[in-house]
Amino acid sequence: MTTDSKNKLEVFQTLDALYVAAANFIVDTANKAIGERGRYTISLSGGQTPKKLYALLATPSFSNKIQWEKTFVFFGDERCVPLDDERNNAHQAKSILLDNVDIPSSNIHIIPVDLSPAEAAVKYEKELKIFFGKESLRFDFILLGLGENGHTASIFPGTKVVEDKTIGIRDLYVETEKIPDGLSHSDGFRVTMTAPMINNARNILFLIAGEEKRVVLDKVLNGPYIPDKYPAQLIKPSDGELKWFVDSKAGALLSE
Ligand code: 6PG
Repeated sequence: MTTDSKNKLEVFQTLDALYVAAANFIVDTANKAIGERGRYTISLSGGQTPKKLYALLATPSFSNKIQWEKTFVFFGDERCVPLDDERNNAHQAKSILLDNVDIPSSNIHIIPVDLSPAEAAVKYEKELKIFFGKESLRFDFILLGLGENGHTASIFPGTKVVEDKTIGIRDLYVETEKIPDGLSHSDGFRVTMTAPMINNARNILFLIAGEEKRVVLDKVLNGPYIPDKYPAQLIKPSDGELKWFVDSKAGALLSE
């Protein structure tokens, strides 16, 4: 990775400090975007890591600092499971955060998992184009996680979407992958933003925690550039800021 992305790396000694910093970053970028353009467009991620961030953002000390009526929420990827399935990323974000703040439901743009994966990708891309109108599909903030196998969003190693050079939304099938705690990070069909879509954002934040991420994080940041194996290496904003907020356990190998 470039030294620039290393310079944007922040290692936090506690999980509390990690999540408070991420929540403050979201508040700051929201206020800046709304001040400059009258609205804030944010794309959320799924998985376990952001749960505590969403819970923190739902507390009055943070939720009262965000103008939710001017905030528009999207998702960087989705698992093609029913909206009421706890694995569904929108279900998770709604139940922990969005259902607990004063955001108009029309400001929340979920990936339509009631359609086939291919139809959902086409429809969501159209929805984004309608929302952004003549503007570029450029989010103010995109939250990302890092899978143990190097994926981010649903850009998984060895899949067609790794090679996709266009700003868009794609569907893909990902082989189910069992990981030690029994949860499968990749469970069938998914819909995802492409890396160029993500790289078009003003602010991109990788939020990473846990010792199980220490090896993959070191490979992504310090290893050779092998995006087909470590798709997170594709993330390099074309005209924006990339930050890595990691806890000390995930960052354990970086100082070596
Ligand atoms: C998803 C996420 C995915 C996630 C990573 C890390 O749908 O699962 O969008 O990209 O960020 O798999 O997940 P954890 O936070 O659970 O480790």
